[in-house]
Amino acid sequence: GASVEVDVSKVEAGQLLTAEWRGKPIFILNRTPEQVKDLATLDGSLTDPKSEADQQPEYCKNPTRSIKENIWVAIGICTHLGCSPTYRPDVGAADLGGGAWKGGFFCPCHGSKFDLAGRVFAGVPAPTNLVIPPYKYLSDNVVLIG
Ligand code: FES
Repeated sequence: GASVEVDVSKVEAGQLLTAEWRGKPIFILNRTPEQVKDLATLDGSLTDPKSEADQQPEYCKNPTRSIKENIWVAIGICTHLGCSPTYRPDVGAADLGGGAWKGGFFCPCHGSKFDLAGRVFAGVPAPTNLVIPPYKYLSDNVVLIG
C-alpha cells in the first residue's frame, strides 16, 4: 500500500498531529520532556506496560514506544471496537476516576484510557495498547509511514 510522508518539524511540544495512512488516522505526538518523564511512573497502572502482548516494530520496543524519544507515532484507533480516542493532555486524574492518569488518550465510546505512549490502562474495555505502524525517518523531520 501507499506510504505517507509527514513533516513533523511544525508539531510543537505537547501538540498532536493527525495524518492518514491506508484510510486510518495516524497520531503523531510531540511529547514534552515532562510527558516523557511521566511515562515511567505509570507502569503499575497499565495492562501491558512493556508492550509484550503487542505486535509492534522492534525499534519501538522501548519505554517510549518510539524511534525518537519525543515523537510518538501510532494508529489512532481504539483496540476495543475501533473508535478514535481523543487526545486529552489537560484532563486531570480526578475527572477520569482517579488513579495514575497524567493525560493521554481517552476513548469516548466506552471509556478506555491510554497513556501518552498509547499503553492501555488496566480495567478498561480495550484489551491492548494502541498499535504502532511501520515507520522510519527519511531525514531529521520527515517520517515515512508504511
Ligand atoms: Fe474505545 Fe470501546 S471502542 S472503548
